[in-house]
Amino acid sequence: MGAGIAEVCARSGYAVVVCEVDTVRLDAGLARIAVSMERAVARGKMTDDDRQSARERIVGVADLARLDDCDLVIEAVPEVLALKRDVFARLGDVAPAHAILASNTSCLAVTDLAVASGRPSQVLGMHFMQPAVVRPLLELVTTLLTAPETLTQARAFGESLGKTTVVSRDDPGFIVNRLMLPSLLQSVDLLERGVASRDEIDTAAQLGLGHPLGPLALLDLIGLDTVVLMADAIYAETHDPRFAAPAILRRMVTAGRLGR
Ligand SMILES: NC(=O)c1ccc[n+]([C@@H]2O[C@H](COP(=O)([O-])OP(=O)(O)OC[C@H]3O[C@@H](n4cnc5c(N)ncnc54)[C@H](O)[C@@H]3O)[C@@H](O)[C@H]2O)c1
Repeated sequence: MGAGIAEVCARSGYAVVVCEVDTVRLDAGLARIAVSMERAVARGKMTDDDRQSARERIVGVADLARLDDCDLVIEAVPEVLALKRDVFARLGDVAPAHAILASNTSCLAVTDLAVASGRPSQVLGMHFMQPAVVRPLLELVTTLLTAPETLTQARAFGESLGKTTVVSRDDPGFIVNRLMLPSLLQSVDLLERGVASRDEIDTAAQLGLGHPLGPLALLDLIGLDTVVLMADAIYAETHDPRFAAPAILRRMVTAGRLGR
C-alpha cells in the first residue's frame, strides 16, 4: 500500500519521502512505483513528462529520522499493533511539531497509535483503498482526541489527491472493512463447502451485486495475510463470529500462499 500512496501523492504534485526498513525493500518499493507509472503512461492515463516530474518528487530513505521535514506522515507498515505503536512513538519524536501523523491501518485502533505518538490531537486514520491510485475513496478516522483542525486539513489533503472522503469514528473496521470482511470470509466458506467454484462466486458478486471485483479476487489483491490480521483485529474487539477467520486462511498464510 505504501508504494501506491506515495505514487498518488507524487502524481498530485506533493514532494514525497518514502521510508522503508532497508535499502533492498526501498529499491523494490521505488521500482514498483516506477512500473506502475510506466503502465499509466502506456494506458494514456498520464504523460511521460508528468511521469518524470512525479518520479523526481519522490525521495527514498531507510531511516525514520529522515522524516524530520514532513508536514504529513502516512504510516503503512504491516497491520501489527506493537509495530505501529513503536513507529508512532518514534514519529512523535522525529516529525516537526506541526506535522499531522496518519495511519493507513485497516482495522487497528487509531486511538492506540495517537496515544503512542505523544501528540494525539494531530493523529487520525487515513485509510486508502487498494489500489490507492485507482480507488476514489479515502476513509478518514477520528479518535476522541483528534483536533477538528487536523480533520479539516486531512480532508483538504484527501480532496487535493482527487479522493472523496468519508469520516468514521475510531470503531473496529471503521466503515469499509466492517462491511467488506464478512463477505470476504463468507466467500472462503462457500468455496470450502463446495457450494460454488471460485469463478462462480466471483462472477455472482460482480454481476449480481455490481462489485467491480469478486471477493476471492479481492482477497488475493489485498493479501491473505493482511485479511487475517484485519479479521483478527476486529474479532478481538467485537467477538462477532462474522469476523472469525476460517482455519484454511490461516493455513494458507502459514504456507506462504498470500495471494498477490
Ligand atoms: N493490502 C491492502 O489492500 C490494504 C488496504 C488498505 C490498507 N492497508 C493497510 O496498509 C498497511 C500496510 O499493508 P500492506 O498490505 O501494504 O503490508 P505489506 O506487508 O505489503 O507492506 C508493509 C511495508 O512496511 C514496511 N515496513 C515494516 N516496518 C517498517 C518500519 N518500521 N518502517 C518503515 N517501513 C516498514 C515493510 O518492509 C513493507 O514493505 C496495513 O496497516 C494494512 O492494514 C492495506
